[in-house]
Amino acid sequence: MSIVRVPGKINLALCVAPRRPDGYHELSSLFQAVSLYDEITAEPTTDGQITLTMHGEGSEDLPCDSTNLAVRAAELLRARHGTPELGVRMHIAKQIPMAGGMAGGSADGAGVLLACNEVWQLNRSLAELSELAADLGSDVPFLLYGGNALGTGRGEKLVVQPTPGRLEWVFALAPRGLSTPLVYQHFDEMADRGAITPSSELPADQLDALCSGDPKIVAGALRNDLQAAALELYPELAQTLASGLAAGALAGLVCGSGPTCAFLCADAPSADELAKQLAGVGQIRATRRAHGPVPGPRGQASDDEL
Ligand code: C5P
Repeated sequence: MSIVRVPGKINLALCVAPRRPDGYHELSSLFQAVSLYDEITAEPTTDGQITLTMHGEGSEDLPCDSTNLAVRAAELLRARHGTPELGVRMHIAKQIPMAGGMAGGSADGAGVLLACNEVWQLNRSLAELSELAADLGSDVPFLLYGGNALGTGRGEKLVVQPTPGRLEWVFALAPRGLSTPLVYQHFDEMADRGAITPSSELPADQLDALCSGDPKIVAGALRNDLQAAALELYPELAQTLASGLAAGALAGLVCGSGPTCAFLCADAPSADELAKQLAGVGQIRATRRAHGPVPGPRGQASDDEL
């Protein structure tokens, strides 16, 4: 049996260029893994069946069939490196909000690759798993590694960004989810009407500020190019962001394609206090406390591995 704990992510910067001919957008994404975890348990079988059960955050709304990224990850690994009789019984305990912009589904995909690699004794390297991860989704490779990393391409080409210190976050969960493809599509529509000017360029001084580990400096440099599109699709998020700032956050931003909002705080006690205050705000379903960066499921990534 294998148990793998995979963190969620936020994007300290998400800089998005126009849509490419293949439908994806060229990005510069500074990922940070944060201490909300999905835990994957995998037990090997020899009947060729890949089965999944789940409990926890949003799991009642998720299918457990081949449309689930966790099942697809096991199928892909078996198809490329295994044999048909390999089966697995998987269970996922979810903490990462569903359809929330924190890569919960991608975390499950990454965790299943690691867990099944172990229980099926396939001995594939992280680099080999990373190739499969990129086929599963743009954020999946980062979740194999964790920590802080700069992603380019569609987010799958990674370079480790060593970062001192620890950032204290509060996450405000929304009552409903947002579809990532829909947010990107809306981003394109906004670009077409000239409301935004897409660019994947992340200036070096902004990257340095985001990797400083100093919450006040990081707060001034956070950037999410998908935020405007998420706010047009989900206008209540503007109120959520305003509530966090009014209650003392250093900065707030939408996580990835949203709708979860992240608030950066000066220290742990002020983050604890903010989480309590925001829990009572109307349009917020729940709050979560977390910190980052945290190591990935197999410890801290190094440049050699990426
Ligand atoms: O890669 P993944 O399957 O997670 O992406 C989901 C959707 O998000 C894609 O189908 C695409 O619409 C959008 N996307 C994008 N550009 C990226 C990453 C994702 O347009 N770099």
